[in-house]
Amino acid sequence: MSKVLVCFFSAGGEDISAGESNELGNTAMMAQSIEAKLKEDGHDVTSFQIQPKEPYPKDYDGKLVKATEERAMQERPMYAEDVPNFDDYDTVFIGYPIWCSDLPMIMYSFLESHVFTGKIVVPFCTHGGSGEVDTFRIVREKAVGSAPEQGLAMPGDLARKPGGVKQVNYWIDQLAI
Ligand SMILES: Cc1cc2nc3c(=O)[nH]c(=O)nc-3n(C[C@H](O)[C@H](O)[C@H](O)COP(=O)(O)O)c2cc1C
Repeated sequence: MSKVLVCFFSAGGEDISAGESNELGNTAMMAQSIEAKLKEDGHDVTSFQIQPKEPYPKDYDGKLVKATEERAMQERPMYAEDVPNFDDYDTVFIGYPIWCSDLPMIMYSFLESHVFTGKIVVPFCTHGGSGEVDTFRIVREKAVGSAPEQGLAMPGDLARKPGGVKQVNYWIDQLAI
């Protein structure tokens, strides 16, 4: 069985789709379901949450202002810590919430500062209704030299429900990993 990394960014806090404040974000919930299923299937799995060096506001408007500014300036926000032993993983799941019809800028920081050659890359995201937009293509482009696998985009509120876990399980069963 392959060595799998599930790395993701998840802001949590006030959520536009659920209308409530989540201690654990939607993408983090989806990542937990992914990890559980992969472990059940016998994979050697490590999860890693990408944490921004400078935390995002918890309220939705605050996050939106910051995200919009970062995107307009094409910033590359720093993350607090890097994944230990990134090179050891054969398969890397990459998760994020859709922000402003795009990946959060911190995901560009992450993708551009790692070498993906020879790894299987599997993107996943949560969103408030837009779907993955074009972000799976961007992940494939940024993860130079990787073998792409089919991604999964999920509405943020579904990621918190049993139906979301079912979708994750079905999706993982279709992957060639
Ligand atoms: C700054 C910001 C921008 C967002 N932009 C979009 C968007 O363009 N399309 C969309 O469907 N949802 C958008 N959303 C909703 C999030 O993608 C959705 O709530 C997601 O599940 C949040 O994940 P998290 O709890 O892991 O941070 C946005 C949310 C925030 C905070």
